[in-house]
Amino acid sequence: MSEEIRLVKDLTDEERKRLFGWGENIFGVEDANYRWRPKDLHFILDVDGRPASHVGLIDHIVKVGGEPVRIGGIGAVVTAGELHGRGYAQKTLRHAERFMCEEMKVEFGLLFCLDRLKTFYERQGWKLVQDEVEFDQPSGKVRSSFNVMALGCVDRAWPSGAVDICSFPW
Ligand SMILES: CC(C)(COP(=O)(O)OP(=O)(O)OC[C@H]1O[C@@H](n2cnc3c(N)ncnc32)[C@H](O)[C@@H]1OP(=O)(O)O)[C@@H](O)C(=O)NCCC(=O)NCCS
Repeated sequence: MSEEIRLVKDLTDEERKRLFGWGENIFGVEDANYRWRPKDLHFILDVDGRPASHVGLIDHIVKVGGEPVRIGGIGAVVTAGELHGRGYAQKTLRHAERFMCEEMKVEFGLLFCLDRLKTFYERQGWKLVQDEVEFDQPSGKVRSSFNVMALGCVDRAWPSGAVDICSFPW
């Protein structure tokens, strides 16, 4: 079985269908009807030449307590339906984490998740942001109802203070 992770700037329709088209409301966020931000970069893990897992990444500056913090925004973490539970998401996420820390050289990773996936990310070293977080929507600023989790790339704890995402969530 061959496994390879590649980095692309855009996904083809076929890749989108394979990765995101295997179920209804796969991220569990459709009822909230939020606007989400497209990702700048996409990591795809191919297994035997077919897309198995995906992690999206953006390079962005948020404000924490009014101060700018450059982050790698991780989102659209997904594994094709029939391939769950084989460590593919974990492997692809590790790869994206290494890229954002070592190549993009951001200070932190930042992601949004539902309760059901909190322990999945905690196992990979991500920590819950305790302060209030707000993000943009067409109607204005909205307080995040999602968990927001951070991963340190440098030897520094996530700063305290209210977080302004300064964009749509991702
Ligand atoms: C979350 C997801 C990407 C995991 O992909 P995967 O390749 O199966 O993950 P891995 O094999 O690397 O890790 C498996 C772990 O994921 C966690 N997990 C996956 N789906 C879960 C769910 N619905 N509820 C709780 N935990 C879940 C479990 O902790 C599991 O660990 P276990 O095998 O010890 O039970 C996959 O379930 C998926 O595509 N879900 C739908 C999209 C989604 O919710 N993405 C996350 C956005 S924050």
